[in-house]
Amino acid sequence: MEWRQAVWREQLIYEYSSKGKTGILITDDLKEMDTDLPETVKRKSKLELPEVSEVEVARHYTRLSQMSYGVDLGPVPLGSCTMKYNPKINEDLASSERVTMLHPLQPMEDVQGILEIMYDLQQMLAYITGMDACSLSIPAGASGELAGALMIKKYHRETGGENRDEMIIPDSAHGTNPASARMAGFKVITIPSNNNGTVDLDALKSVVGDRTAGIMLTNPNTLGLFERDILEIANIIHSAGGKLYYDGANLNGILGIARPGDMGFDIVHINLHKTFSTPHGGGGPGGGAVCAKGEMTDYLPRPIVRKDEKGYYMDFTCSKCIGRLHSFYGNIPVDVKAYAYIKSLGGEGLRKVAITSTLNTNYFIKLIEKSGGYSIPYDPRAPRKHEVVISAEPLKEKYGITADDVAKYLLDNGFYAPTIYFPLIVKEALMIEFTESETLENIEEYARILEEIEEIAKENPSLIKESPRNTAVRRIKAAEANKPKNIIPTYRVLRRKKLGVKGYEKL
Ligand SMILES: Cc1ncc(COP(=O)(O)O)c(C=O)c1O
Repeated sequence: MEWRQAVWREQLIYEYSSKGKTGILITDDLKEMDTDLPETVKRKSKLELPEVSEVEVARHYTRLSQMSYGVDLGPVPLGSCTMKYNPKINEDLASSERVTMLHPLQPMEDVQGILEIMYDLQQMLAYITGMDACSLSIPAGASGELAGALMIKKYHRETGGENRDEMIIPDSAHGTNPASARMAGFKVITIPSNNNGTVDLDALKSVVGDRTAGIMLTNPNTLGLFERDILEIANIIHSAGGKLYYDGANLNGILGIARPGDMGFDIVHINLHKTFSTPHGGGGPGGGAVCAKGEMTDYLPRPIVRKDEKGYYMDFTCSKCIGRLHSFYGNIPVDVKAYAYIKSLGGEGLRKVAITSTLNTNYFIKLIEKSGGYSIPYDPRAPRKHEVVISAEPLKEKYGITADDVAKYLLDNGFYAPTIYFPLIVKEALMIEFTESETLENIEEYARILEEIEEIAKENPSLIKESPRNTAVRRIKAAEANKPKNIIPTYRVLRRKKLGVKGYEKL
């Protein structure tokens, strides 16, 4: 294989393979090694592994690692996804053997240390959110929402409210909210936002009634705006017999400053991956801890870590609870990172996270608010919290440049693209979140590139339309890429087919 070609071409490790090559020396006694495995489970044919040298393996994986972009390489201001820099010390702790070598079937008395960490984390999260108790086993934000919706359902069943089958959700909500409510069996009642981008109180009052099970809300909402009427909203829902669910996927803007429990919410889920030091995305395991207040704590999923005179233990007992959402205890390394993050920052540090991320958002708004290419829909003068949604509609109207085009041009300039076309209530939406960890220079550079897009568009819009030029792949058909039949045959399967690897079509 000509190495210069191999460096930048997408190649499978199988393509370096040639018969007899090896990276390690397997001694004869290992080759002969027999095992106690029963014949029925022993492999009948040889395992098809690539035959490669050590240097080829090292180069292959180093090349792959350099082909991906992440927050350790550059800014990822991806709104609603909170891609902040995660301190490496937390990763070190979570990947220590004391955590990774634990087995979920070990007796409780052997794992008192990790149980103590989980117990303390439950307490700290309850304090941070203003709730009474938490359950950590839930693996992601959306499953936290499902847990919350199921808790509300069970509560109404237990208290004679079987007819309460409606979940109210504002039109600015994250898509997972209506999906989770539907999965729990609720009818979704969507209410419009008012001109300020917050919950329209009249619309809310017009839909509450004796079929109301509850409301799912996030505050600050997906526009980054704080719902100032939250106490009144809570009062309206509670007076109608409903419960309030807080989508706490994005706590970055309120840490140490405001608490869902004090706003009147009954249940909250927290994305530990995002706010508390585990990266979001890439399909990695997450943590969607769910916390509840008062009578709703009885409905929390199990297990919950508790403490008695003998020490810490996992409580699986459940009279009203909704059962379990995950096998064993959830994603424990994520809990360890969250614990380390909270302990290392302390109360004051967490408060600074909220202040700095909010300051970063509002500084960015100041830099672009006078630009003719972008608008800030919904009350442009109201301060934003952890994120802001701007619109590229002026650029589209004047020069035909869309939010998608802006995102591609940013890629060419070393920035990860913002979240685009979400929330749905903003046309040509660019949802931008710098978090507390982004540098001032990068925020200024990002704003400068947005201005540059407008300048270039005035002269020659096709220069923007033709981006990205500097990336490994240029424009892909985004909608096509989402179709399962197109995802599978790309890359892995086609290459294996070419190489004649058996069973490629089942991959
Ligand atoms: C507001 C909001 N709610 C819910 C979720 C869902 O979280 P997850 O991706 O962990 O399921 C997200 C995603 O980050 C979100 O931003």
